[in-house]
Amino acid sequence: MSKPKILIARAVFPEVIARLEQHFEVESNQLDETWSKAELIKRLHGKAGAFTTGGDRIDAEVLAACPELKICANMAVGYNNFDIDAMTAAGVLATNAPDVLTETTADFGFALLMATARRITESEHYLRAGKWKKWSYDMFAGSDIHGATLGIFGMGRIGQGIAKRGAHGFGMKVIYHNRSRLDADLEAECKASYVGKEELLKTADHLVLVLPYSPASHHAIGAAELALMKPTATLVNIARGGIVDDAALAAALRNRTIAAAGLDVFEGEPSVHPDLLSVPNVVLTPHIASATIPTRMAMASLAADNLIQFFSQGKPLTPLNPEVLATR
Ligand code: GLV
Repeated sequence: MSKPKILIARAVFPEVIARLEQHFEVESNQLDETWSKAELIKRLHGKAGAFTTGGDRIDAEVLAACPELKICANMAVGYNNFDIDAMTAAGVLATNAPDVLTETTADFGFALLMATARRITESEHYLRAGKWKKWSYDMFAGSDIHGATLGIFGMGRIGQGIAKRGAHGFGMKVIYHNRSRLDADLEAECKASYVGKEELLKTADHLVLVLPYSPASHHAIGAAELALMKPTATLVNIARGGIVDDAALAAALRNRTIAAAGLDVFEGEPSVHPDLLSVPNVVLTPHIASATIPTRMAMASLAADNLIQFFSQGKPLTPLNPEVLATR
């Protein structure tokens, strides 16, 4: 029997490709070319499965052009690159890669928070530029992490990981806002108290964004929200570009409406709003929160397992629209 055909849309670990080749006829983008939508459609045409990453948009147009497609496995926990409703309507399964990146991403969120509050990259640029001539009492004075109030917007698994690091490791008071409140025992584990969005913005010394992107969370942090924050506050976004209005944030950083920001995700990335590039009080990283080799390997392996399990057992491990299975 011939093997099902799949497309691997971006470069990935050769070991993962070799494993997929045992089960599938594989076309892969191992040169990591940037494909236009037309090119993606051309490559995906005739394929039964796709191994995708967060930049590969699967929408109604792609689905209509690729009627043989049965499943798209995302090597990411976020899946705003998928039009889930269109996929469900077309009978195409979607899977993501949850859990395997939780602790690594929470570590990074905390690292970005520390780098931002303690002005680590800004001071390093100063040193490298040869500007450090003498010590002074307030040179690169930042704000404390320990004992401060940590606000978390979006209290899923990664938010909870950040809460635990803050509460247990740094003696922080943790407050959070989420679509739904956590169970009492989870709140106790995270030592976190539920507050409304306005109180979160007004009270947090450090605010970390970990909510999923959706039309409802588009620009959840804009000029009005930034104006509610403390002028000494720091803002960290490890969630998705588009949750923060980047132009409004750059203005707030320039005007010192807030003290500093740490951003791993951007509207329209890999482009970065030019105003963010020119303000000093922001730490910028290129969407690397889950980037350790073991975690990226675990994410890639889970995406591969989703494809293998679906074609061999009829059910992937982490489906996002399992209702599609009932219609098969
Ligand atoms: C990374 O941003 C992910 O969603 O896994």
